Amino acid sequence: MEVYFDNAATSYPKPEIVHRKIFDFMKNLGVSAGRGAYKKAFEADRLVFETRKSLAELFNIDDLTRIVFTHNVTEAINLALKGLLESGDHVITSSLEHNAIRRPLKELERERGIETTFIECDQQGNLPLAKVEAAIKENTKLIACLHASNVIGKLLPIRELGQLANEFNLHFLVDTAQTAGVYPIDVKEMNIDLLAFTGHKGLLGPTGTGGLYIEEGIDLAPLRTGGTGNNAVSEYPPADLPNRYEAGTINVAGIVGLGAGVDYILEKGVAEIREYELELIDYALTELAKIEDLTIYGSLNPEQRVGVISFNFEELINHHDLAHQLDSEYQLMVRAGLHCSPLAHRTVGSFEFEGSVRVGLSYFNTKEEIDYLIKALKEIKQAL
Ligand SMILES: Cc1ncc(COP(=O)(O)O)c(C=O)c1O
Repeated sequence: MEVYFDNAATSYPKPEIVHRKIFDFMKNLGVSAGRGAYKKAFEADRLVFETRKSLAELFNIDDLTRIVFTHNVTEAINLALKGLLESGDHVITSSLEHNAIRRPLKELERERGIETTFIECDQQGNLPLAKVEAAIKENTKLIACLHASNVIGKLLPIRELGQLANEFNLHFLVDTAQTAGVYPIDVKEMNIDLLAFTGHKGLLGPTGTGGLYIEEGIDLAPLRTGGTGNNAVSEYPPADLPNRYEAGTINVAGIVGLGAGVDYILEKGVAEIREYELELIDYALTELAKIEDLTIYGSLNPEQRVGVISFNFEELINHHDLAHQLDSEYQLMVRAGLHCSPLAHRTVGSFEFEGSVRVGLSYFNTKEEIDYLIKALKEIKQAL
């Protein structure tokens, strides 16, 4: 049996409709969007529009022109942070962050003189809201954090953070890399004014897709400028969205595939996907916890998690060796290492082991596959 458990990196498989729509587009249409004035070009425009519409429905966004496409969530976060922050601004974030938020912030600290506060979460990944509130000061402009940790799957208190941001008139940027498509997200209810998403994980689209929702009233400096297919005479980027932030030919084939992934999710319903994943998370945590000497990082409460589980046999075997053995002897694909999140490993206690083995579950995994992983881990442990 071959099992893919690296869905926190990118989801696989994708629904059949995703391959089919990309293939159809490449074979039968294949033209650029936002440029031509012939029938096929209009059809490409329509397909891109449909993806924006589906994303707007998924995240409860009213104005779909305010969803701009990027190549991934990393680019979306870069656009939000570099487009918003100026010298002297202060940003509050968490100690669970992926490098996608941490590195642009550190770069801006060095190059633009912004200030940052990384609020320490406890070992279970709980973010102390009182400390977030206490960190707010005169020059605080933004709260920026991930929705769920890509190391321990821990869900951050996004609603409460959104309320705080609202109360103190701050912007609120959320990195939904591990939640979009698998956990309900509503930009209005959660007071999110900058929502960054990636297309290739829970949204079930292809790699090379992602985007940023920018609430009305926020003007970010574009990350890249160039041709947008409109207002070509002007020396400067257009003011209208999404063109302002989509210079260069967009990834039409990818966006078509992303639209198919999001439509699949809308049809199933995020609630149903979450319910099924919760069952898997609960089962995996329960069974993993029975394995002697296995340390599972973070909370064991499935309700507080998405389908990302990190563990180690700590001193007994290095995570790379364990992941290698799972792959070579059992065809089980997991991720090993720091997962681009050294801060999170420091927070949860796995940094001293240079990271962890990470299982990333998806809607397409089964309990039988988890049983197989458990069996493999028990056998490997026994032979140590
Ligand atoms: C929380 C988080 N943020 C950002 C990223 C980066 O995603 P991407 O490579 O699609 O930009 C990931 C995944 O790798 C992630 O898990």
